[in-house]
Amino acid sequence: MSTVIQIAYLVASVLFIIGIKYLGKTKDARRGNILSAVGMLIAIVATMLTIEVVTFLEIFICILIGSVIGLYYATKVPMTKIPEMVALFNGFGGLASFAVGLSDYFLKSSTSLESLDAVNLTSIILSVLIGGVTFTGSMIAYLKLDGKVSGQPITFSGQHLLNLVLLIAFIAASVFVFLDPTNLTLILILVVISLLLGILTVIPIGGADMPVVISLLNSYSGMAACATGFILNNNVLIVAGSLVGASGIILTQIMCKAMNRSLTNVLLGGFGQTVATGGQEGPAVVIKEIGVEETAMLFDSASSVIVVPGYGMAVAQAQHVIRELMEQCEKRNIDFRFAIHPVAGRMPGHMNVLLAEANISYDKLIEMEAINDDFSNTDLVFVVGANDVVNPAARTNPQSPIFGMPILNADKAKTVIVSKRSMGKGYAGIENELFGYPNCLMLFGDAKQTITKVVGEMKEMS
Ligand code: TAP
Repeated sequence: MSTVIQIAYLVASVLFIIGIKYLGKTKDARRGNILSAVGMLIAIVATMLTIEVVTFLEIFICILIGSVIGLYYATKVPMTKIPEMVALFNGFGGLASFAVGLSDYFLKSSTSLESLDAVNLTSIILSVLIGGVTFTGSMIAYLKLDGKVSGQPITFSGQHLLNLVLLIAFIAASVFVFLDPTNLTLILILVVISLLLGILTVIPIGGADMPVVISLLNSYSGMAACATGFILNNNVLIVAGSLVGASGIILTQIMCKAMNRSLTNVLLGGFGQTVATGGQEGPAVVIKEIGVEETAMLFDSASSVIVVPGYGMAVAQAQHVIRELMEQCEKRNIDFRFAIHPVAGRMPGHMNVLLAEANISYDKLIEMEAINDDFSNTDLVFVVGANDVVNPAARTNPQSPIFGMPILNADKAKTVIVSKRSMGKGYAGIENELFGYPNCLMLFGDAKQTITKVVGEMKEMS
């Protein structure tokens, strides 16, 4: 039986790895998800064959309760609230590892003290630390993102020092646990410190920067699961945990790079404070406005169009009407593509998911590196609710908080139309000099409403 289970774990692990590989490409992502889910099913069934303490009925009841709650939230949650949902999932993942670590400790310290060897104790301590930090950190991230607590960074002097002191206290208490594994007070100290560290490391971070923190906490939840795998002697948990840990760290790094932040800056907390305080205000930008009719005419006469979607497209839910705009353009044989910035929106892949939801084919979505040289040969760039990802200050203004961040070269096109409601700033809280460029025209109003009108005009023209 044990060989069968280990083979099942191996198959599940291979499915996880292939699944993650498929997630790298938008068109294969759905298949990747299904493969990983099948892997997880195999892992669960194999693990159920090893159960001793609980019954199948108890497990089934728990699976049912979890599935109903998960299904309810997954179907109800709007696309813009996915980061909050991911934060909650990460938090519960961390809590699960935290609980497994503690229960294993209590089980072994009361029944078989000798089995609490160095490897076991280390795994338990790591589960408690990483699981605890992930749990409370993710809950704070969720509350900030959801606006239930202020999204402003909460800082006080000596904050980093306090975190350092707590970490040292945790290490010291851990050493004493090795010397006296039955000392419950020491375990309680580890629990309290780990929960406190989660809160203290996330509160100084601004609400808008939470997606990066969530990606990092996702990685932590994987590492906590990995430590739990060592406690339970479960190979598939070790593999799955390592995959989540590594992919979370890689994603965090990609996001940091695209936002021109350093990972150390995130790890130390306080991330987002530079952004929250905004950048240097330059002279007021003089803009030119354009109306719906003229916009429709510009589309009608263009031979190539690139749409740059951003956070505002998600807020307006304008993706479906953009597909209609694309259909109108393609009827006129206009070359129509989308330029996707890696951190457009508020979560990785945000734009890809929304555009795919509107049935826009994946080959129309071109990554920044692949499309950036084409802007200068493009007649019309249509910026829909994007701001920071097309701000030329990232190239030209060393004082700007986004200086160095790679941007889409929308400003190089012959004409740029920007669809947004007002002169409101983007996530970085800074002016966008592009709006004042001679080739740039502002189309004010909610993106969905104005583009619907543009499409209406184009339909009348044809
Ligand atoms: P932003 O720079 O945040 O700009 C979004 C713009 O959308 C705003 O200026 C807003 O202007 C406009 N808008 C809001 N509601 C709208 C509506 N209903 N209709 C039309 N426009 C609307 O967006 P971006 O260019 O996508 O850049 C993303 C930013 O988020 C970057 O700075 C990035 O670093 C940051 N960030 C990204 C991520 C990930 S992983 N994607 C994670 C964390 C942070 P008005 O108010 O004038 O309408």
